[in-house]
Amino acid sequence: MYRSHNCGELNANHINKEVTLAGWVQKSRDKGFMIWVDLRDRYGITQLIFDESRTEKSVFELAKTLGREFVVQVKGTVIERESKNNNIPTGEIEILVSELTILNAAILPPFTIEDETDGGEDIRMKYRYLDIRRNPVKNALLFRHNVAMHVRNYLSNQGFCEIETPYLIKSTPEGARDFVVPSRMNEGQFYALPQSPQTFKQLLMVGGMDKYFQIVKCFRDEDLRADRQPEFTQIDCEMAFVEQEDILNVFEGLTRHLLKEIKGIEVDKFPRITYDYAMKTYGNDKPDIRFDMKFGELNEVAQHKDFPVFNSAELVVGIAAPNCASYTRKEIDALIDWVKRPQVGASGMVYVKCEADGTYKSSVDKFYDQDDLAKWAEITGAKAGDMIFILSGKADKTRTQLSALRMELATRLGLRNPSEFAPLWVVDFPLLEFDEESNRYHAMHHPFTSPKPEDFELLETNPGKVRANAYDMVLNGNEIGGGSIRIHDKNLQARMFNLLGFTPEEAENQFGFLMNAFQYGAPPHGGLAFGLDRLVAILGGQETIRDFIAFPKNNSGRDVMIDAPSVIDDKQLEELHIKLDITK
Ligand code: AMO
Repeated sequence: MYRSHNCGELNANHINKEVTLAGWVQKSRDKGFMIWVDLRDRYGITQLIFDESRTEKSVFELAKTLGREFVVQVKGTVIERESKNNNIPTGEIEILVSELTILNAAILPPFTIEDETDGGEDIRMKYRYLDIRRNPVKNALLFRHNVAMHVRNYLSNQGFCEIETPYLIKSTPEGARDFVVPSRMNEGQFYALPQSPQTFKQLLMVGGMDKYFQIVKCFRDEDLRADRQPEFTQIDCEMAFVEQEDILNVFEGLTRHLLKEIKGIEVDKFPRITYDYAMKTYGNDKPDIRFDMKFGELNEVAQHKDFPVFNSAELVVGIAAPNCASYTRKEIDALIDWVKRPQVGASGMVYVKCEADGTYKSSVDKFYDQDDLAKWAEITGAKAGDMIFILSGKADKTRTQLSALRMELATRLGLRNPSEFAPLWVVDFPLLEFDEESNRYHAMHHPFTSPKPEDFELLETNPGKVRANAYDMVLNGNEIGGGSIRIHDKNLQARMFNLLGFTPEEAENQFGFLMNAFQYGAPPHGGLAFGLDRLVAILGGQETIRDFIAFPKNNSGRDVMIDAPSVIDDKQLEELHIKLDITK
């Protein structure tokens, strides 16, 4: 038996007990006649004591050789500590060691294994197994497990069945880029790793498994950001014989359950807003509604004077930043510079101070009088003490820019409180979006999403206006899940592929298996997928998903610990019938 207890569970109730512990040496303090060692495992830290007068000489001498991160086993007696540490559960006791075995020596770790470490991101990723010994990373993994366990239990209790779908599938041109895997047995042919199990879960519905879920890895070869990894995990779900309303209710139920069980927070029914409303009001389809700062459109009350910048703009739009009227000239200029950075791209910004005495002071006083400015304040909801910031230009671009400013201001004003949770649904997404580059429509969600029946006739006449039965769940400004009601009719699916620019042959070649299946009695169905990494990170009060993944990739898609991707040898290439032609 390696251990009778773990390093986090002994306390005053165990005094005089003989115990065996095993773990890592966190640190050791040698006072000459007395050595204290902090022994650490996943569960906590227990202090060991070696005392020249009470410990056998050979054990005492061996204790002197212990270094950081040595793996040891000790036997000893639980005794009361002289100087107690109230900060840890084992702080009242220590172990007077009688036997010490070094199970494995360790070389000096490249960074300190402490909550606040001296190791930078790169070195911690290279030695991720050491990073995992630190509380913040370990706790993030335990937290993730807890969320996943609640998800599995909740969905299983609701009658959902977890079914695995294949990882070696067929490459398709829609969506992000595929990661591909060459086939040795089929010369010149490739599998693709799934971007999601979308078509398989639909086939499971045709197969009659009417409530499916899977906590599943997905792979997308896309540019990385804080909330994106090339391999990530979805809570993928699908149901048959349902309408949009049923799906929203089931998965709102799951999310509410998680917020209650994990965070102890009860939330009301989730607000639902349309995609159009989200774009007009927040400039964004994943609005953070923990704070207000809604957009106020000012064209009507700002284009009647001689200010050419506003008069020539498609959209003049502002937000009221709460309690910012006291901003100095310097602070305002810094914000103007911020919106002019290429990442945001505004050409300038107008501001209006709403003074405490009810008057207004603006950067465009030359053109507008107090009555004009009062109207702007009314429309943006600005109160005395607030500052209105206004951008203008092409509608879509200006909304995106103001949305970036809204988030930046909220961050600076401390309005993005990570322990507050404001979930919502964004519904009625457009079915299609026009891509200038390829000069054709792309599916906004994916090509299996059903148009709203009332918009069917627009499919031919004005495809860009067709709305879909598609929805996203948004939490604190992040898209944590998305889904749709699917097409289950072969002819409608064929029409959809046609709209997306597929020839009938291409559609047949790539998705024939699905359209075929639809001929054998496909039930109406729909579903959604949550991004588990994102959900866990946000519930954990953060937005960087890497911190909640045991072995993540860096921003160039590399695993720096195992050094992947890497070249493969010529023999392997030959077996795979691959000839490389790399010109540098
Ligand atoms: P979608 O593409 O919207 O839908 O993905 C669902 C959710 O997965 C998360 N997500 C990611 N998380 C981390 N890294 C990434 N690279 C990444 N990409 C997506 C997001 C997103 O909301 N098959 C459909 C779902 C359906 O229709 O049922 C799908 O994959 O949180």
